Amino acid sequence: MYLSSMAKVLLGQAMFKVLARAKELECKGRDILHFEIGEPDFDTPDNIKNAAIKALREGKTNYVNAAGIPELREAISEEIEKTRSFKPAIDQILVGPGANPMIYFALACIADKGEEVILPDPGFPSYHAAIAAIGLKPIYVPVKEENDFRLNPDDVAEFLTSKTRIIMMNSPNNPTGAVMSREDVRGIAEIAEDKNIYLFSDEIYSKLVYDAEHYTPAYKDECNERTILIDGFSKSYAMTGWRLGYCIGPKELISKMELLLQTIVSCTPPFIQYSGIEALKGRQDFVSNMREDYRKRRDIIIPGLNKIPGFKCVYPQGAFYAFPNIKGTGMKSDEISELLLEKTGVATLPGTAFGPGGEGYIRFSYATSLEDIKDALKRITNLMEELGVG
Ligand SMILES: Cc1ncc(COP(=O)(O)O)c(C=O)c1O
Repeated sequence: MYLSSMAKVLLGQAMFKVLARAKELECKGRDILHFEIGEPDFDTPDNIKNAAIKALREGKTNYVNAAGIPELREAISEEIEKTRSFKPAIDQILVGPGANPMIYFALACIADKGEEVILPDPGFPSYHAAIAAIGLKPIYVPVKEENDFRLNPDDVAEFLTSKTRIIMMNSPNNPTGAVMSREDVRGIAEIAEDKNIYLFSDEIYSKLVYDAEHYTPAYKDECNERTILIDGFSKSYAMTGWRLGYCIGPKELISKMELLLQTIVSCTPPFIQYSGIEALKGRQDFVSNMREDYRKRRDIIIPGLNKIPGFKCVYPQGAFYAFPNIKGTGMKSDEISELLLEKTGVATLPGTAFGPGGEGYIRFSYATSLEDIKDALKRITNLMEELGVG
């Protein structure tokens, strides 16, 4: 079959492949513990659900402004003022069906085939997928375990060339849980300004930070010149299936991204957008309770992983991911991830799903019950002992 060169390089997300295999095993009666999916195990709060139901009942079911309804964009502007200390103009804000499409929309609007994109390695698979689909050149900056996987400005500087169009950063990070320090964020914002290149800051886990603080590089230009900030509702408000996210950037870029959004999805469902207003303006105790729950789980899973023969795991400061080094097992990432699923029923993702630098690591999403975490730790320990690891 004839397929376009773009179709031939599409990558998608590895998570869906592992999830499909885990579900297949479940259908055969296996007891599977899910650590592969990066989503909260909490239900969306009722006040948010009720806002969507009310909007549906009021007939908020038609096409709306492609960039997002003004009330939600105003709520986002106020949210950014509260959390990032600057207030973006309404036409700097684009609402879309999740933060994920914003990655593609932004890259497609700012870079041409062959131009270079600097990104952390390992990093979120959608970055790789969007870069490949658009025909850009990924330039991987290894994030080092000895630096708690934080992206370092000196390392970034080494990879700059005359073809660099954009630097991508993601703090708190998927898959490592690393949170960048104020100095590192500043350092990268300064590089972007000096070199006059774009800076893409994925801040989807900004509300899930434990013993650190979240910093944005947008303080420098308030998203007027080069900084493109994305955030959304999936992780903070347990709304992954609702598909609602947003991007803040320079007006001219946002208006082009809006045209791309119109081309592909027309607009974001209005009743979903009303739920977003409630999420941002309604009670926030859900977010802090969820964060405290994740902290408890982190404080069980990390010491637990560190006791497993062949495993070694840094303490993540944000998101809900553990990224243990499994080199001591003598196995490759793919191999151990598959073995854990097939032999113990523990579904994880191989580190290589996040880039070449993920070799030697696997990712656990610990947004799952404490009971499952403890059970998984036991199952993996037993298997490693059986295999004589350590
Ligand atoms: C770093 C990162 N950015 C963006 C997204 C996409 O989020 P959304 O559900 O809003 O599309 C995810 C989801 O896993 C993520 O981990």
